[in-house]
Amino acid sequence: MAAAAAAAAAISELDSCRRESRGAIEQIVRMEKRIFPKHESMAKFFDEELRKKNAGLLYAKVTNGEGEEEEEEEEIVGYVMYSFVTSLCASITKLAVKENYRRKGYGEALLKAAVEKCRKRRVHRICLHVDPTRSPAVSLYTKIGFRIDCSVKSYYSSERDAYRMYMDFDDNC
Ligand SMILES: CC(C)(COP(=O)(O)OP(=O)(O)OC[C@H]1O[C@@H](n2cnc3c(N)ncnc32)[C@H](O)[C@@H]1OP(=O)(O)O)[C@@H](O)C(=O)NCCC(=O)NCCS
Repeated sequence: MAAAAAAAAAISELDSCRRESRGAIEQIVRMEKRIFPKHESMAKFFDEELRKKNAGLLYAKVTNGEGEEEEEEEEIVGYVMYSFVTSLCASITKLAVKENYRRKGYGEALLKAAVEKCRKRRVHRICLHVDPTRSPAVSLYTKIGFRIDCSVKSYYSSERDAYRMYMDFDDNC
């Protein structure tokens, strides 16, 4: 059921240089502000981040209003950001799914698509940081094959640590 919902969603790569992407960026920034606390939110420097040549963003969208009378409207339900820190190491920098679309497989589909992008660039390792109290995210990363490397003290703030997690691609070595 969850896999079917996610499979029905189209996963697209954002091309921030195209004017048509403006609407998508606005939706993603709204989601970012709603889901993450200010100090964790990238909303303010989203454009700057997306202009970087070594960064990418994939988003999942669904089409609403398919009735004869209704106009079709695309809704972005989740996104994942990644960057290539070096030629051998990538990083997942953000992953989020709208509250009312969670537990339907979108997060997993997005994360797998980002991992595949990184694998194709022949990196040896993907790293990420996650707040250990975000248990749905920790479970998802573990399910996909990420392992906990260590705990990083005060990563988000003086009171909030992070797990550093990683996934290695032995076949890319
Ligand atoms: C983490 C997040 C992206 C998961 O998205 P999602 O679309 O709900 O996840 P999926 O439906 O694809 O679930 C895939 C797996 O994730 C884990 N998972 C997801 N939600 C979970 C929950 N509430 N409790 C426990 N595990 C959960 C499970 O392992 C699940 O596999 P299963 O269905 O076989 O049990 C979503 O909860 C979210 O946006 N959270 C807030 C933002 C966040 O914490 N981002 C990560 C840090 S940047």
